[in-house]
Amino acid sequence: MRTKIVAGNWKMNKTYQETKALVKELKHAVKEISLDNTRVIIAPTFVNLQKASKMTKSSAIEVAAQNMHQEANGAYTGEISAQMLKSVYVDTVILGHSERREYFGESDELLASKVDAALANDLEVIFCFGEVLEDRKSGNHFKVVESQIKNALFHLESGAWSKIILAYEPVWAIGTGETATPDQAQEMHAFIRELVAERYLSDVSEEVSILYGGSVKPGNAEEIFSKNDVDGGLIGGAALNVDDFSAIIKAI
Ligand code: PGA
Repeated sequence: MRTKIVAGNWKMNKTYQETKALVKELKHAVKEISLDNTRVIIAPTFVNLQKASKMTKSSAIEVAAQNMHQEANGAYTGEISAQMLKSVYVDTVILGHSERREYFGESDELLASKVDAALANDLEVIFCFGEVLEDRKSGNHFKVVESQIKNALFHLESGAWSKIILAYEPVWAIGTGETATPDQAQEMHAFIRELVAERYLSDVSEEVSILYGGSVKPGNAEEIFSKNDVDGGLIGGAALNVDDFSAIIKAI
């Protein structure tokens, strides 16, 4: 059975004090939820990872980073490596978020090297991809998603896929209040699973969790999560509020 995952991407939100407060609230809330085959992950900013991972040590909540650099160390001012994440007990990293691609120019090629560096350091990767509105309007969304996945992940051997989580995030639905319909999400997720099945054995495609992201809220989560190939969500805005995030976890 595929693992279900609800992951919160906090982006550039929450100070140290606010992080402590939200993690504390979340720990209480998550204790009350029965997490049947479901993982709960939060991704605070770099400076708050150590505190968050300490605070969640004895809870069901896991902590992920939002990004990392592909090199192990060196003269890369302002950057953070996979080893540094591991050293503060972070075992998962989000890579390829559309905001990284758009504002920081991250290409498929660069992302392939980040994926390699993460895996080499035994980090699990939540790999994000998704089309922009023009791609969907022109009917190119499947092609775009296919090339994003192929270019960054299809050089991997099948064994590496136990450390890969896919996150389909149509860019037009991120932070816009607009969501893909559950059928649009299902259609794309089924396409992605098929793509992975064609390249690898079906046990890889059947095991990989594919999350949906883009304006998931308590009001639409249940319907989206009810789809066969949707194994959970990557949540932005609604992950910053304990009630909303817990309601989304319950929805799964
Ligand atoms: P959103 O963000 O839920 O605020 O749309 C999702 C994401 O960027 O991961």
